[in-house]
Amino acid sequence: MIWSSATLAVSDDETDSPDPVRSSTGHLITDPAKVMGAESCKECHKSEHAAWSASMHAKNFERIDSSSGKKIAAAYGNTKVCQNCHSTPHTETAKFAGAVGVSCESCHSPAGGDEGWFKIHSDYGGKDVKREDETEEHLKERLAKCKAAGMVRPADANILAKNCYSCHIIADEKLLAAGHKTGQSSFDLIPWMQGEVRHNFQVDQSVNADSPSLLMARYGTTTAQRKRKLLVIGKIVELEICLRNLASIDAANLNESYAGRRGWAGRAEDAYEYLDEEIGEAVDNDQIKAALKAVKKIDLGRKFEDQPGAKAAANQLSDIVKSFAEDADADDLAKLDKLVDDLDKPKGTPYTP
Ligand code: HEC
Ligand code: HEC
Ligand code: HEC
Ligand code: HEC
Repeated sequence: MIWSSATLAVSDDETDSPDPVRSSTGHLITDPAKVMGAESCKECHKSEHAAWSASMHAKNFERIDSSSGKKIAAAYGNTKVCQNCHSTPHTETAKFAGAVGVSCESCHSPAGGDEGWFKIHSDYGGKDVKREDETEEHLKERLAKCKAAGMVRPADANILAKNCYSCHIIADEKLLAAGHKTGQSSFDLIPWMQGEVRHNFQVDQSVNADSPSLLMARYGTTTAQRKRKLLVIGKIVELEICLRNLASIDAANLNESYAGRRGWAGRAEDAYEYLDEEIGEAVDNDQIKAALKAVKKIDLGRKFEDQPGAKAAANQLSDIVKSFAEDADADDLAKLDKLVDDLDKPKGTPYTP
């Protein structure tokens, strides 16, 4: 199916957006014209591209065209919305021939445009300058420019996690009413990132590292440190997204299966309990306490008709998880290693070149 550019734009309503680069639906692509496509990354990120190509993300566009997809699309009334999650919204050009799947920029943000991060992100200060020879000052400036251009790097684990959850938990009531599944209840950040999705090749294109190799090279971040933080970030984000969904739907539908015990409310409660009873018991951290406090106020599980409360809590969680991702000291979280180890095995098999 060919999409006309008129059907491509996702919501441009920014009013409910917790992050400046997001649409109100929680999705990252607010300007499809800036999407360059995975082919533009392949030259320098060969193994990342190969890993992605072998994953479901590269293929799942096909779902929309399946017989059950067609049924859902017909009941929904249009197919524009499907692009948000089964593909990367883009402006149709010769470069994008046919399906694209969920590609690099759905997770790392659109790279193109005059102010885009595409050129900036790999320039160490001139053509012949290597990573090892980049000055501290240039690195700082480069990363700040990438950030200003909206680039989502592995260091922004809170935003990466939001991207996963905003696609993997379906928020759109109309879509659910059209017969779409609610999303995978088994989705969990660490195991789902560690399997077929993993592509940590930046420093060595022949080794798919356990955690971002560039973070190891640049800051000495170990895999254990990375995972401790991901564990906490994943749970807070899951809680945030479920509360945001509860806050956003028509109040008359709050008892529907997707909003109730077997849906967002139950899922939010499970995430809260895990954060409280497992994580909160193991470590003493002010940001985790603040997250629990923000949610306690809305008396989760019993009073989730408190939609304004759920929205306020979600907004607070968004700020808390951002500051946790940026500032929390992973060495203070060593007691979480056991919880990390207990997680299920990776979803899918990591790609090896
Ligand atoms: C001309 C080569 C080149 C192209 C093309 C390129 N990259 Fe990169 N990319 C690099 C280099 C070099 C680095 C390592 C930068 C560093 O050391 O901070 C990098 C790093 C990254 C990182 C990790 C950043 C971090 O701070 O951890 C991401 C994510 C990324 N690129 C995504 C992309 C995507 C998506 C595309 C396509 C839209 C792309 N790159 C195209 C060369 C390139
Ligand atoms: C918010 C993100 C999101 C949107 C929007 C979305 N999907 Fe999905 N879709 C998913 C996820 C996540 C799954 C996997 C769900 C699961 O297995 O429980 C999925 C699974 C599917 C499946 C396979 C499961 C089944 O029911 O047979 C089909 C078909 C499908 N989607 C079609 C569509 C169509 C058609 C649209 C647009 C009208 C659409 N989707 C919009 C995220 C989305
Ligand atoms: C733009 C939307 C979107 C984003 C962002 C996204 N996913 Fe997905 N993902 C999907 C859809 C849609 C499917 C296919 C579901 C289907 O067809 O059953 C999928 C499939 C997967 C699968 C394969 C599942 C299986 O059943 O084998 C894994 C693993 C996965 N995603 C992990 C992640 C992780 C981890 C993140 C965040 C780093 C992420 N996804 C971000 C939309 C997305
Ligand atoms: C489903 C979301 C998703 C997609 C699609 C995706 N990435 Fe990533 N990317 C991530 C996440 C999450 C990490 C950090 C992984 C971790 O913490 O283990 C990452 C890490 C990276 C890194 C840093 C790896 C390192 O060793 O430091 C680069 C470079 C990168 N991605 C480039 C790409 C390119 C190029 C594509 C497309 C071919 C792509 N990514 C597609 C989510 C995604």
